Amino acid sequence: MDPLVTRATDPERSRRFAFVPGGGAPFPVARTEGAWLIAPDGRRVLDAAGGAIVSNVGHGRHEVAQAMARALERIDYVVPPFATEERVALVERLLDRWLPPGLTRVMLTSGGSESVDAALRLARQHHVAAGRGGRWKVIGRDLSYHGATLAALAVGGHTKRRAGLEPLLLELPKAPACYCMRCPLGLALPGCGIACVDAVEAAIVREGPESVAAVIAEPVVGSTAGALVPPDAYWPRLAEICRRHGVLLIADEVMTGFGRTGRRFAVEHWGVVPDILVGGKGLTGGYAPMGGVFATDAVLAPLAARGEDVMFYTYGAHPAACAASLAVLDILEREALVERAAARGKQLSARLTAALADHPNVAEVRGLGLLLGVELVRDRATREPFPSEAQLTRKAVGAGLGLGVFFYPGGCGAARDVLVLGPPFTVGDEEIELIADVLPRAIDAAVGRAG
Ligand SMILES: Cc1ncc(COP(=O)(O)O)c(C=O)c1O
Repeated sequence: MDPLVTRATDPERSRRFAFVPGGGAPFPVARTEGAWLIAPDGRRVLDAAGGAIVSNVGHGRHEVAQAMARALERIDYVVPPFATEERVALVERLLDRWLPPGLTRVMLTSGGSESVDAALRLARQHHVAAGRGGRWKVIGRDLSYHGATLAALAVGGHTKRRAGLEPLLLELPKAPACYCMRCPLGLALPGCGIACVDAVEAAIVREGPESVAAVIAEPVVGSTAGALVPPDAYWPRLAEICRRHGVLLIADEVMTGFGRTGRRFAVEHWGVVPDILVGGKGLTGGYAPMGGVFATDAVLAPLAARGEDVMFYTYGAHPAACAASLAVLDILEREALVERAAARGKQLSARLTAALADHPNVAEVRGLGLLLGVELVRDRATREPFPSEAQLTRKAVGAGLGLGVFFYPGGCGAARDVLVLGPPFTVGDEEIELIADVLPRAIDAAVGRAG
């Protein structure tokens, strides 16, 4: 074995990698390949989460690594506003084949949180430049995650990740997310008339529309509550509400974008084009750190008229990351992987639903495309959750790893125990069978240990 790999993944040395001491050695990975993580001792673990719902074309694609190396051999670094071959080609590719029509402006960053932060800056700058300096509030939703910068945490509703940081976070209004299984408004479809989207409008009105800059939402709520899919009419009505009140709509597609839900972007399921769309993860499929902010001409026009720009991040649009993204988009297109994500998503969802149909601790299997969530509860009939102290999700993830499959830990608040699945779009029949076989056993093991 490669001596560098052996040394770096030695458990004693791995332990030193942890920022906070005492949490045990991190799971050591020596190599990745297809949908698999390979430990230094050769043990193979199926990556049913695609990392943090990142890996879309699968691990170990040599052509991506080679494209990055070729790019770096020519240019290591130039400031983000300068044009390089990979940057220009990537923007052209995004505009020609990927972005919803109307999203014509592209800013490339180095990750999802940074992109959300830049989108918030852009929304504010847009209004200021247009002479509407009173508009600054950004309305988010109470089960959501938009990233770990202080501004992204402020617009998000992930109480666990915000805990203790509140004094540093701007207090911003929140509307309820559409969590139909435990409707925060105590209503049910279809009689509810999708009252949760009307609650966004109520928040705009309550705050005073002339003070509101934007609404930010994940089209399908990701790991916070485990793949919450809104009713079909939610996003069209949300877009209409925002338009009527002069509020920008920001779709955070960091997790859902680039094919994850079976369409290029999740908003396409509902025919909506937001004013600003934020992407990350799938843009490079994990091969390089990069995110993007995509906006309409109308959003940028007031800035352009005043000769202003949006301040870049030093590592934004890095040449190697642009090359990685181009190679990943090539693979997605050539292998029709977005269509495959739709088909494999249905297959995985059907297998999980069947495998967990009578499981006493599974409240719901939900999701869209290859973004799926499984909510765990103490009692399937009453949907009573486990106490937080039971740490059920953590135990289930640990049990899954022991049984050879990695599930992503999610959940917050009432939806506190959630396993999130987001395998690479290349996932095959046998791998889907393995996931469906291991998941109930991992839950059983966790519940047994939870007592
Ligand atoms: C919807 C959403 N937005 C933003 C982020 C933050 O992205 P990053 O972790 O790349 O900064 C995430 C990460 O999970 C996410 O799921």
